[in-house]
Amino acid sequence: MTPDLFARHRAVLPDWLALYYEDPLEITHGDGRHVWDAEGNKYLDFFGGILTTMTAHALPEVTKAVAEQAGRIVHSSTLYLNRPMVELAERVAQLSGIPDARVFFTTSGTEANDTALLLATAHRRSNTVLAMRNSYHGRSFSAVGITGNRGWSPTSLSPLQTLYVHGGVRTRGPYADLDDRDFIDACVADLKDLLGHTRAPAALIAEPVQGVGGFTSPPDGLYAAFREVLHEHGILWIADEVQTGWGRTGEHFWGWQAHARSGPPDIVTFAKGIGNGMSVGGVIARAEIMNCLDANSISTFGGTQVTMAAGLANLTYLLEHDLQGNARRVGGLLIERLRAAAAQVPHVREVRGRGLMIGVELTRPGTDEAAPEAAATVLEEARAGGLLVGKGGGHGTSVLRVAPPMSLTVAEAEEGAAILERALRSI
Ligand SMILES: Cc1ncc(COP(=O)(O)O)c(C=O)c1O
Repeated sequence: MTPDLFARHRAVLPDWLALYYEDPLEITHGDGRHVWDAEGNKYLDFFGGILTTMTAHALPEVTKAVAEQAGRIVHSSTLYLNRPMVELAERVAQLSGIPDARVFFTTSGTEANDTALLLATAHRRSNTVLAMRNSYHGRSFSAVGITGNRGWSPTSLSPLQTLYVHGGVRTRGPYADLDDRDFIDACVADLKDLLGHTRAPAALIAEPVQGVGGFTSPPDGLYAAFREVLHEHGILWIADEVQTGWGRTGEHFWGWQAHARSGPPDIVTFAKGIGNGMSVGGVIARAEIMNCLDANSISTFGGTQVTMAAGLANLTYLLEHDLQGNARRVGGLLIERLRAAAAQVPHVREVRGRGLMIGVELTRPGTDEAAPEAAATVLEEARAGGLLVGKGGGHGTSVLRVAPPMSLTVAEAEEGAAILERALRSI
């Protein structure tokens, strides 16, 4: 309870900057998969600051790299050679699978997607963009213009003409009752029909697993099928890997790999977890696309030495400790445990996800109607039990989002699942 800080927050920050909990939490420090509040209460952290604390809180390898780099130089701008930036770009380019890849670092996911849109629209000389229903790609003027989630789209004004495609949500919408193959065929037919009625779009942008939308995804292979159609028209495919990148989905290092084993997207955007809390975002694209701009472009704070040092240390830790494998193993156990718990709770419509990206959708029992008040209750009860989880969902904020740091242990997964089970039973 920090009423004074809450009042000061209210007095000086925007109303639309939502806070979790009736009695908002001030997190003062973290360690591993745990955080502590200002009163000294300890919580198991299953949201990681919205999937940003990717490896662990206060990971010594990362904090040491940050401290050492900060002691040398924090920032020099991209007007000068920047060794940590070049090193991280080399590693990200190689991991991307994109041939002749170029990497541009930004400060956020929004700015990364904004850059991808700039590149795609300039490259294709078109401001028409295809996006998915229920999508979220960021908060800037251009990013809200491709956000198919009413709750996160404060204006319909946009520099882009956006057309929303079916398919990002498997279990809702007009094709929900079809089997996977027919679902994909119906979405592809819809896409083809749409293309018959529009000027050549620049790109399709899609999250392989929709994050803010409540961890929804299409059947595997949908984006590969889309890609064949896009390819015929020269339309670029942008994968927004801001939440799904770096192995979080367990089976794959990039979320797009669930769809197109044969080849990478034209453009990949990333942010959140790579900096383990430091502001690192970026865009990866083939040289031909990245270099298509015929004017200067700069992100003053993109790729500062200190954030790049954090990214390098974090990525090294992730790869050396096979956190993707851990996400697959521990995430697999956690989802099974949550499915078993949910079977006893009539409000749970679906437990879905992959790896350490798990959504628990709550509805009024026996209906598809969102139950945001039930989600709010579970969030509060989980907190009272010592567990932090997130919320999301495009059909009312009624999906609990579980996305712990990827170093989660089996014991922590069991403990968190037990707390969440008790919280769900309290509805
Ligand atoms: C898939 C996706 N893209 C982009 C963004 C925007 O990233 P940022 O908040 O760092 O601007 C988010 C943020 O939640 C996201 O989930």
